[in-house]
Amino acid sequence: MTSSASLEQLRRCQVAVDLGAARTRVYVKDVGLVVDQPSAAAVNTQTGALIAVGEFAERMTGRTPDYIRVVRPVSGGTVVDIDMAQRMLRHLLGDKLRRTLRRKPRLRAAVCTPHEADPLARRAATETMLGLGARRVELVDTLIAAAVGCGLPVERPEATMIIACGAATTQIAVLSLGAIVTAVRIPVGGEAIDHAIIQHLRQRHELVLPSQSVRPLRVAIAESGMGRAGVASTEIHGRDVATGLARSVTVDTAAVREAIHTPLTTVIDGIGKVLRTCPPDLVADLADQGIMMVGGSALLPGFDDMLRTATGVPVAIAERPDVCAVLGLGAMLEGRVEPMTLDQLSV
Ligand SMILES: Nc1ncnc2c1ncn2[C@@H]1O[C@H](COP(=O)(O)OP(=O)(O)OP(=O)(O)O)[C@@H](O)[C@H]1O
Ligand SMILES: [Mg+2]
Repeated sequence: MTSSASLEQLRRCQVAVDLGAARTRVYVKDVGLVVDQPSAAAVNTQTGALIAVGEFAERMTGRTPDYIRVVRPVSGGTVVDIDMAQRMLRHLLGDKLRRTLRRKPRLRAAVCTPHEADPLARRAATETMLGLGARRVELVDTLIAAAVGCGLPVERPEATMIIACGAATTQIAVLSLGAIVTAVRIPVGGEAIDHAIIQHLRQRHELVLPSQSVRPLRVAIAESGMGRAGVASTEIHGRDVATGLARSVTVDTAAVREAIHTPLTTVIDGIGKVLRTCPPDLVADLADQGIMMVGGSALLPGFDDMLRTATGVPVAIAERPDVCAVLGLGAMLEGRVEPMTLDQLSV
């Protein structure tokens, strides 16, 4: 029932789904983006009952009694728990799914999967949607979906580079004439950046930072302005490593920036790898066309500056980087993509 997506097939789909390690997004044809929520579910471990999904479940992380567990059915861009992914999606969609099924009992779904996802990962994405009532599932390369979603002129012969910075992975590709010429996928994303921040606080300040406190620190880095003079320090609350008691420390934002440098360097290495395997004519194009950043982690303050400095080519962040892929799939469903483009985009 899995098939390669084509213009015709995609236009027949009613829903488009992007199951990310951090967030789940769903686009319903003729309606738009209806779900953009954390890929999380809280489960009662004694009864197996679902207690909460999405935002509510994520807020419970690290605060639950023993009998409640917050689970993440998607990891590394792949559905790792099909049953839980289905239950989560069913709850996130609620009556929207029922309404779509009432109108179109033969539901067709489009799902984006990471570039060169292995057969098991593709199968898991397909199974998840079949379990929700889809009769047919079309799989589209996330990079292609994101390129369409951010309006890159993918069908032109000039090469462009797209970098999808997700939570679990970063995918880097050179696109030309609607196809991926060369690409790499590296297991570093927003999660690795958050991890580096947590490690820094633990080592430098002997402070255990709850995962939900990473965000305020990222905001502080943003306000301090990467590389520019600004707020030099910020107060962060956590727990003392030794005593276990609540404590707050003043954190030097420049040092935090230094700490996240390592995962970001891995991305720069990935760009080098893609360029080395890319035909020279296309590399020359990139000097003009530059790099387009998509994915939630593209919003990390200073990330674009860093890539600009490292590569010397223009770097742009997509207008809505976090939802590019699902909006691109949506555009394909609505037939808003030039037929010529989409025929070549078929994966
Ligand atoms: N303003 C921001 N600054 C820094 N990081 C951000 C910001 N907004 C989101 N992020 C990070 O972006 C990541 C989520 O990105 P995205 O929604 O593209 O992931 P995903 O699609 O669920 O993951 P994947 O594609 O890897 O499966 C998270 O790690 C989050 O911390
Ligand atoms: Mg993603």
